[in-house]
Amino acid sequence: MTKTQIFTPAKLAGLELKNRVIRAGCFEGMCQGGQVTDDLIEHHRRVAAGGVSMTTVAYCSVSADGRAFDHELWMRKEIVPDLKKLTDAVHREGSLASIQLGHSGFFTNKEVIGKRPLGASAKWCLFMRSHCREMTREDIEEKVQDFVAAAELARDAGFDAIEIHAGHGYLLSQFLSPWTNRRNDAFGGVIDNRLRFPIKVVENTRDILGYDFPILIKMNQVDGIKTGVSIHESVIMGKAFEKAGASALIPSSGFTSKVPFLMLRGGLPIEEMSGNQEGSLDRLGMKLFGRFMVPEHTYQPLFQLEGARKILEAVNIPVIYIGGVESLADMQQVLGEGFSFVQLGRATIQDPDFVSKLETGQIDRSPCDHCNRCVAAMDAGGVYCVSNREGFLDQDSRG
Ligand SMILES: Cc1cc2nc3c(=O)[nH]c(=O)nc-3n(C[C@H](O)[C@H](O)[C@H](O)COP(=O)(O)O)c2cc1C
Repeated sequence: MTKTQIFTPAKLAGLELKNRVIRAGCFEGMCQGGQVTDDLIEHHRRVAAGGVSMTTVAYCSVSADGRAFDHELWMRKEIVPDLKKLTDAVHREGSLASIQLGHSGFFTNKEVIGKRPLGASAKWCLFMRSHCREMTREDIEEKVQDFVAAAELARDAGFDAIEIHAGHGYLLSQFLSPWTNRRNDAFGGVIDNRLRFPIKVVENTRDILGYDFPILIKMNQVDGIKTGVSIHESVIMGKAFEKAGASALIPSSGFTSKVPFLMLRGGLPIEEMSGNQEGSLDRLGMKLFGRFMVPEHTYQPLFQLEGARKILEAVNIPVIYIGGVESLADMQQVLGEGFSFVQLGRATIQDPDFVSKLETGQIDRSPCDHCNRCVAAMDAGGVYCVSNREGFLDQDSRG
């Protein structure tokens, strides 16, 4: 695909995007107490001003009991006016806004939610050091309704699209994965059963939002765990999401509570992650054992391509490529292969103007070195690139 084609408007369901480059959901760490803060609004305004056609507000829980951190959003009526300020700010920059909706399931934080976490099956979570309870049919029905209500509120807040999180080991992914789902009822066992709850979420959300509101699904092509979802099953999942009414798929990989860096690849910022631990023992533990607890994965450009191609071949809806897009040539390659859009994470954290600089020919690749220290920064007060803090503080580009 030519550069001009990348920067020509393209349709996603009923929505026109000004180009084929979307900012991926990258947890901002800016919602202390679950509030929409000025920092969150400014972050997305700034990303929007940098040339993407749509920015994605990262992980927003569909209910108060789906939170893993205190500085995480959860969808409720009271925050709709503040979210509207965010979508208005993004729209004023000529861009569109999407929001990731999910639930953390067995790795929700019991201190934050004030009760025992819910999961597909009862399971110990080393990441949160808690034991979840298996969800009943009533719980499943309640969470389906929570997704639907959250989607409606997102639309009321002016979002142009929603992204349902069915990957990275979140609740829907916990139902899809045999590693976390060991149920004996209609929601466990063979893949068709494990799909039942996620599919209900997509179908019910589609019913409420109407036929052409974009519903993106972020899913795993592989979990990266021996007993997790394989590429064979994720192809089945992709087709099922298409049938249920998904507008587009975003195939990623990894399980936050077990292999959190598989979705990123590259550096493991143990020193900085250790600094984020609350107690001195936890800090020491992370320093000493971090490398054993959190596996490292080698980075290469377009690291999700092989699996993403299999999903692309299997479905007839747009597939959005994510993972290691770092240059104009990378974009040309994946869009040329038939992916409809690309989502970018770190390149836009390193420099919010990355996309407009590509478009105007000032650069042709991102200088991001995948040290992943932005991941530690996000939990220490808000995401930024440790090597280019000025990127988001550039006064000239502020509105
Ligand atoms: C700081 C940071 C936070 C992230 N938070 C999320 C998140 O909240 N939800 C999600 O689905 N992915 C999250 N990701 C993963 C990105 O969406 C994306 O899949 C990954 O960074 C690979 O794309 P990239 O190579 O363009 O960075 C995060 C990535 C980074 C760097």
